[in-house]
Amino acid sequence: MFGTKDHLRAEGGHLLIDGVDVVDIAEDFGTPLYVTSEARLRANGRAYREAFPKADIYFAVKANGNLALLRILAEEGLGADVFSAGELSLVRMAGIPREKVLFNGNSKRRVELEMALEAGVRISADSLDELLTIDEVAREIGEEAQVAFRVNPDVSAKTHPKIATGLKTSKFGIPWQEVVEVYRTAMGLEGVTPVGLHCHIGSQILETSPFVEAAARMMELVGRIVEVGGTIDMIDFGGGLGIPYTPGTKAPTPSELASGITPIFEEGCQRLGISPRMILEPGRSIVADSTLFLTRVNVVKRAHVNFVGVDAGFNLLARPMLYDAYHHVVVANRADGEAEERYTVVGPICESGDVLAKDRELPKVERGDLIAMLDAGAYGFSMASVYNGQPRCPEVLVNGGRTELIRRGEDQSVLLLGQIVPARLLK
Ligand code: LLP
Repeated sequence: MFGTKDHLRAEGGHLLIDGVDVVDIAEDFGTPLYVTSEARLRANGRAYREAFPKADIYFAVKANGNLALLRILAEEGLGADVFSAGELSLVRMAGIPREKVLFNGNSKRRVELEMALEAGVRISADSLDELLTIDEVAREIGEEAQVAFRVNPDVSAKTHPKIATGLKTSKFGIPWQEVVEVYRTAMGLEGVTPVGLHCHIGSQILETSPFVEAAARMMELVGRIVEVGGTIDMIDFGGGLGIPYTPGTKAPTPSELASGITPIFEEGCQRLGISPRMILEPGRSIVADSTLFLTRVNVVKRAHVNFVGVDAGFNLLARPMLYDAYHHVVVANRADGEAEERYTVVGPICESGDVLAKDRELPKVERGDLIAMLDAGAYGFSMASVYNGQPRCPEVLVNGGRTELIRRGEDQSVLLLGQIVPARLLK
């Protein structure tokens, strides 16, 4: 019923995650709620380590910045791709060693670069202009900057246009034709040591061919850099592997990805006589399917369609609204019920686009039912906002039949955070 998700099953009409009844979890912690299977998260991390035994796996923290989850991934030996000073602080708190962190970003602030240099992490430079800033900052603070270069390989990733990043029209990376020149410039800078190349072609990619194409282009560039005397210590192929959100669809596994790109990497390195580290930066494929999003039905309205109004909207799960993304819906207290009617699940936010799931065949839904949205661990909580005065919800971890709160839900004080009403307005 749940495909390869062996942490989920239906029993006695209820949905269970790692053997724990989600109806009980919702009663204990309230809704809305994110619930993560620790076992599944660890298994996903391990699948990457096993598929790429010689590579470093850097978890893309933007997918999920929960500290407990980051700790688990650190225990599994993963490093981190961070995209801001905030994400860097999180991974340092999670105990991920600095040698396993890459600081990414297409428009970094000076203070972020300073922080990265002081933390001793490598930086991926997204442009020539940024390289020059990194050099300035490094010389100013007397730290050597180890810099990789984000390549725009001009590869079509066959995904939603808002999450494709490797096309020449994308804002990310240095056009591949200019990379060797930028590398040579870096070789002449006092504050900078160029250490390698980085790319990331997009997200939710369901075929291996774009990764293979990008890897070939990267190795071609590596060859040209070696030819001009450059040193390459790392080659980072980014993240982007998709997951099967829609039942019945398929996504490549980490080992299928490895079969596609590892030979290209290894043959290239052998030919050039170099032995750099291979790095990958998966986010979604590590964390998405570990997590359910639970939300309670407030109303069922039979109008032009059957609307199910739940207690969470795009403030807490933005993907359907932003990318027309599909998250499979299970009525958690009728998990083995037969589909009876079509429903559209909507949130409480004051926008017509606040639709979590459109036109789904579900068992009969009633007020008080519990809706589980699957595969919500990536870009779920991490993209949540407090729009419409809706504080963010808690997160819970399930481990060995036990549940643990790993983030408290916010109360309305979050809406006041940092706000200042000038005294003159308080009269
Ligand atoms: N590395 C870099 C430089 C990235 O920009 C990203 C994602 C990743 C790695 C991880 O990609 P993943 O393995 O998760 O596909 N909010 C969108 C996805 C945005 C992806 C941003 N970059 C969504 O919900 O689909």
